[in-house]
Amino acid sequence: MSVNTPQHIAIIMDGNGRWAQLQGLKRVKGHEAGAEIVREITTYCSKHDDIEQLTLYAFSTENWKRPKLEVEFLMKLLERYLKNELDTYMGNNIRFNPIGDLSGFSRPLLTTIEMVQEKTRHNNGLVQNLALNYGSKDEIVRAVNKLVKENSEITEESLNSALDCSSSVDLLVRTGGDRRLSNYLLWQSAYAELFFINTLWPDFSTYELETIIHQFTTIERRFGGLKS
Ligand code: FPP
Repeated sequence: MSVNTPQHIAIIMDGNGRWAQLQGLKRVKGHEAGAEIVREITTYCSKHDDIEQLTLYAFSTENWKRPKLEVEFLMKLLERYLKNELDTYMGNNIRFNPIGDLSGFSRPLLTTIEMVQEKTRHNNGLVQNLALNYGSKDEIVRAVNKLVKENSEITEESLNSALDCSSSVDLLVRTGGDRRLSNYLLWQSAYAELFFINTLWPDFSTYELETIIHQFTTIERRFGGLKS
């Protein structure tokens, strides 16, 4: 393995709506175009031996505040995407792992989520964690409640393993120009390298991700220690 290659990449896929509006299209067209990039980036990561996990922010606990029609569109798009991409998951040995509070979703969508999760369960290449009805604060509260219910001691280790996602993030990318974490993987990103880029998500490319990964490899990560 090359030095400093990110094993866990997390992405906040922002800018779909603006991408569409800039072209005189409805916002939802941006989400459709964004779904294509999800496929491209996931496939790219699955072919990169050092990348073990890719965590994508598809729907946050706060996204329910959007207009009803946009939320409904996103739900349908997600269902369609998961069904259509089963071949991509299987053909590239990708394990699909939803994270977040899935209890918020409709039965048909849940059935599709569970179907893809089950069918890809034995794939042992890239893990694609799809954050669905995900919020970092919600994840931490659910994890703490789980430990309390089990009467388990709360330590960094026990809390970490009770989270939906227990793997620390090496590289976090946010597209769309904003420089904030928006309640995403706050615990897991304690020592992540953060890249905020202006590119709108539907314009993001494997080329740009490669450039970011290259920049990442040049960073000396000290994790609070001293220069080696
Ligand atoms: C942010 O763009 C994006 C989302 C809230 C949803 C992310 C969804 C996708 C990338 C497409 C669907 C995903 C899958 C897995 C099928 P925004 O709407 O906030 O853009 P804006 O900031 O320009 O308004």
